[in-house]
Amino acid sequence: MILGVNIDHIATLRQARRGIEPDPILAAPLAILGGADGITVHLREDRRHIQDRDLEILKRIVPVELNLEMAVTEEMLLIAEKIKPDLVTIVPEKRMELTTEGGLDVKKHKKNVMEAIKRLHRKDIPVSLFINPDKGDIELSGKIGSDMVEIHTGTYANTKGKSQEKEFARVKNAVNYALECRLLVNAGHGLNYFNVQRIALIEGLRGLYIGHSIISRAVFVGLERAVREMKQIIHR
Ligand code: PXP
Repeated sequence: MILGVNIDHIATLRQARRGIEPDPILAAPLAILGGADGITVHLREDRRHIQDRDLEILKRIVPVELNLEMAVTEEMLLIAEKIKPDLVTIVPEKRMELTTEGGLDVKKHKKNVMEAIKRLHRKDIPVSLFINPDKGDIELSGKIGSDMVEIHTGTYANTKGKSQEKEFARVKNAVNYALECRLLVNAGHGLNYFNVQRIALIEGLRGLYIGHSIISRAVFVGLERAVREMKQIIHR
């Protein structure tokens, strides 16, 4: 199971002063030293954290999977076609949200997403759709040509007790259904050092995409160690 580390949160800190530090570019090799199998960045329409220059440099220096999270807009598609990341994850994007709040409504955006997948495939870029643990979205993702899905674990992560049990079952069933639909299956959002273990035990998952908890821990223990500790939990 691979671990993709999202480094947006380092760029968020840099943008707080609109300066040059901390530079997310420097985070990539440290995360990789700690065992990251991939580096993820979300280039947002409002450029609130990752900047175009970050993506351009990362493309040149990241030797593992570079995953670009993006909304389906003409601007982002042109950037992806030019940069050619190793993977594009299509996410819904709302201007006022603090983070990606929910999965993509595949039914609603079917036409645009299908067109985007075709365009990205023409450039040999595999595509993943970030979706809720919902059978309809999973099935449709496969039908419109997506290579992978990333199941949104945010609700699982934000609940406790019985509600969390219910959410865990939803995620697990979603993973199994996506596998039946012959999709590669990832999971992510809100995963941390306490709630990741159960998700990591779900069989058939290709990878986990984690950002905030790792960068938060890195503030205290350093990024390389924070990534290494997360990897150990996932593989234990
Ligand atoms: N996967 C996707 C598609 C995301 O948008 C994000 C957040 O940027 C993550 C995973 C990582 O979420 P978190 O920062 O809560 O670990």
